[in-house]
Amino acid sequence: MSAAPTVIRTKNFVADAAALIVERARKAIAERNEFRIALSGGNTPAPVYARIAAEARDFPWKQVRFTFGDERCVPPDEPQSNFRMARENLFVPAGVPEKSIMRMRGEIDPPTAAQEYEDRLNAIATNSGESIYQHDLILLGLGDDGHTASLFPGTAALDEKTRRVVANFVPKLNAWRLTFTFRLINHARHILFLVGASKSPRLIERVLAGDQQFPAARVNPSIGDVTWMIAES
Ligand code: 6PG
Repeated sequence: MSAAPTVIRTKNFVADAAALIVERARKAIAERNEFRIALSGGNTPAPVYARIAAEARDFPWKQVRFTFGDERCVPPDEPQSNFRMARENLFVPAGVPEKSIMRMRGEIDPPTAAQEYEDRLNAIATNSGESIYQHDLILLGLGDDGHTASLFPGTAALDEKTRRVVANFVPKLNAWRLTFTFRLINHARHILFLVGASKSPRLIERVLAGDQQFPAARVNPSIGDVTWMIAES
């Protein structure tokens, strides 16, 4: 059981989130010469990514490995694509080299794309002598139904105990998603939830209280720590 999460409520959400991420990155690179970060999708992170790109121009991006905690099953140039959002707000403005980015192929058969991504993570982990790929930082969002990544209430991926990345059909969206599983998420060194000011305070309170009906409440890294950064309007 990891320690209780750190909860930061801030009126300077974008600046504080960007600063925390860059601080974690510099620390990881200083300690291990690499920073492994999984990006979250949706709308909330976009201005944070843009802020990082604007502030961390001199950053050693070659030593950063970007993965994605989830992806919509659409081509990368579709407006819904999490990769497209990250490319527009971070990768292009910051000049991140393509070699630093591991894109989930949302445009192909979902189970194939999930297996392909998992195989890539497993190969890196094996080469590094790890049993499972360990992220330095995984960014997560909070959906209005308490989902995180693409782990939606009542979906099959919630019960996956072995796989690291799966295709998950989401009935409420009538759509497939690619997503990290809890197995992979809970192996991270640090997890940072980025929660916008529009999110229900009641939902946040219930998730922080550990209400297991909400997938976000099931994020509980075995050795890592969790920070919630919550925007205050
Ligand atoms: C996605 C995200 C998802 C997101 C939440 C919150 O692909 O949509 O990964 O988990 O973080 O739905 O989204 P907003 O930040 O847009 O509220």
